[in-house]
Amino acid sequence: SLQGYDHYMLKEIYEQPESLRNAMRGRLDEENATAVFGGLNLTPQQLRSVERIILTGCGTSWHSALVGEYLIEELARIPVSVEYASELRYRNPPIENNTLVFGLTQSGETADTLAALRETKRKGHRTLAICNVVGSSIAQAADGGVYLHAGPEIGVASTKAYTSQCSVLAMLALYFGRIRHLSYEAGTNIIADLMKAPGAVQEALACNEHVKTVAEKYQNATNILYLGRQLNFPTALEGALKLKEISYVHAEGYPAAEMKHGPIALVDETTPSVFIVPQGTTYDKVMANMEEVKARGGPIIAVASKDDPHIDAVADDVIHIPDVPSIIQPIVSVVPLQLLSYHIALLRGCDVDKPRNLAKSVTVE
Ligand code: M6R
Repeated sequence: SLQGYDHYMLKEIYEQPESLRNAMRGRLDEENATAVFGGLNLTPQQLRSVERIILTGCGTSWHSALVGEYLIEELARIPVSVEYASELRYRNPPIENNTLVFGLTQSGETADTLAALRETKRKGHRTLAICNVVGSSIAQAADGGVYLHAGPEIGVASTKAYTSQCSVLAMLALYFGRIRHLSYEAGTNIIADLMKAPGAVQEALACNEHVKTVAEKYQNATNILYLGRQLNFPTALEGALKLKEISYVHAEGYPAAEMKHGPIALVDETTPSVFIVPQGTTYDKVMANMEEVKARGGPIIAVASKDDPHIDAVADDVIHIPDVPSIIQPIVSVVPLQLLSYHIALLRGCDVDKPRNLAKSVTVE
């Protein structure tokens, strides 16, 4: 039931502190400074011998894979490639021995993701599922996996499953890092960072009323750019997808610096850009990209850390999020973008829970 919320999407956005706690419950082992997973069905030796990881999925799940790529390469130094499941299933890439294939899927029923996992499994590779629905087709087809425990996600736009996928991938990065080179101390710090996620998301949710006023201001835009770098690039893609699917407004997610190579031609007074620009290593660079957009007259909405002293001078509208460690930044910075798409869709009279032309699970290829 809706439990007092107007829509499932809003309810599910607000459930994220809890769904994140559920994703992490019992999986953070502080004594050994690592993560633990019950269902990988692989021995420590097999896991240690993994030399390459493929992450595959569709839509929002594919976006979480991009976050996973970044975190696993950073923390575990294992090369990762991210593949659209619909492409992987018909492509014939050379896959080395000791490659582990993860299928990411909320529903566990996405036809392309299922087929991609079956195809890689048929070739003799180990396949695991990161999935929300217990007993789903993909959960059954894989050799093992990790459940998200996010609870049922009813809204067609994936919200809480995405942040849970990001948290499971962060825990996997910690796990693989700790069976390789990551120190006890580094592992301990990562656990402390991960445990901040539910509270930080709770804090980020406080932006809802402000996001609504931002949505009112930009509700008639026909084109919105979403820009971010590094860990915030998948967030840009995800923000743009959320807007497209429920409000039917065209949006593009781009790496903030890459936009100079084409999309900047779209910028004018009627084309707002959403910059995801929290504190972090690329902050100055993204600010410079923002200036480029501003110089061309484009309205700027910034998702920025709460104590950012410079942002008000550049951005037209600022949505503040708590200042968090980079590993949980994707989880926190996507929250205002989920809310922005929700409010814009509502203002435009769209059915947020059941957008046109879309189904919750895409069981045809
Ligand atoms: O159930 P899955 O995670 O496999 O679904 C994949 C996509 O169909 C899904 O993420 C889709 O893009 C959502 N509607 C996005 O909000």
